Amino acid sequence: MNSDMTLTITQPDDWHLHVRDGDMLKLVVPHTAAVFKRAIIMPNLKPPITNAAMANAYKKRIVAAAGNQDFTPLMTLYLTDETTPNIISEAKEAGVIAAKLYPAGATTNSAAGVTDVKKIYQSLEAMQQLNMPLLVHGEVTGDVDVFDREAMYIDNILIPLVKNFPALKIVMEHITTQQAAEYVSQAGENIGATITPQHLLYNRNAILSGGIRPHYYCLPILKREQHRQALLALVGSDCNRVFLGTDSAPHSQHAKESDCGCAGCYSAYHAMPLYLEAFESVNALDKFEAFASFNGPDFYGLPRNTSKIQLQKKSWTLPESFGDAADPLVPLKAGETLQWQVKNSKEAK
Ligand code: NCD
Ligand code: ZN
Ligand code: ZN
Repeated sequence: MNSDMTLTITQPDDWHLHVRDGDMLKLVVPHTAAVFKRAIIMPNLKPPITNAAMANAYKKRIVAAAGNQDFTPLMTLYLTDETTPNIISEAKEAGVIAAKLYPAGATTNSAAGVTDVKKIYQSLEAMQQLNMPLLVHGEVTGDVDVFDREAMYIDNILIPLVKNFPALKIVMEHITTQQAAEYVSQAGENIGATITPQHLLYNRNAILSGGIRPHYYCLPILKREQHRQALLALVGSDCNRVFLGTDSAPHSQHAKESDCGCAGCYSAYHAMPLYLEAFESVNALDKFEAFASFNGPDFYGLPRNTSKIQLQKKSWTLPESFGDAADPLVPLKAGETLQWQVKNSKEAK
């Protein structure tokens, strides 16, 4: 590989992103908007985004934070036991793109999530009819080993769900296991998946290398090397239902470096370099544009972006932190050297 190599690809989108609210939102949205044209915004705020009015108000705050950057947030609805078909159709009408299923207690701000998927069957029926995708945090909850939760979700919940709603579009968010990679690669055309940079770059040793490393802790948790290899094989394959979703999930340094640290890695600022490093490691750079820029819009039935970005193989050092010096945001790989960079940020609108 030549050291000043550049790649030009279609403007990418991020199909799974947390931007929070308030000061954190103002800090992180410009990082995403500098590179991505669109992003699917996760609804797990406190309180969660559970109806069209909340989604629209949240969208306005995100657009304001993007300033003059040409960036479109794609809004999602947080499903609860109380979600009704009416709430779904109002959301669809208001431009909400998808609804998110958090099993209650599975992850950050999921306490208000769904306690039993049967409770939302009428809403899923409505989504199937309206062609509104279901986005799933696919982990069982309760007294199950943390490393087994995703595989068990596929067998116990997802497979029956797909049988009951054969026309529903479903995205398995942030897949982390060989079982999920195999399931998605063999599934029908209405089943897609997103993959984060950290699950392509690291196995579970990263969380415990020389001590407890909280910035590598996210959910679903990093798995064994065999699972990372399966994810790399999937992105290196011709499966066109797998797409970029950073799951960039900012928590302040105090919230991460704590006795009970929050789950989530901050990667929005440097997502392209992280993914490129992973793809290059398995000689799959030729698959990167489809993953970052084609497969997502094709799955969601949206137009592909027409603008381009340039990516350059040139090393640089990632900052140690961003934002408020008293309680900053520490990114994944803080202070480390990255091999790739975005050469030209996109034009302002
Ligand atoms: C996410 C967050 O912090 O909102 N955390 C994470 O570890 N991925 C929630 C999620 O996507 O499950
Ligand atoms: Zn999740
Ligand atoms: Zn997430």
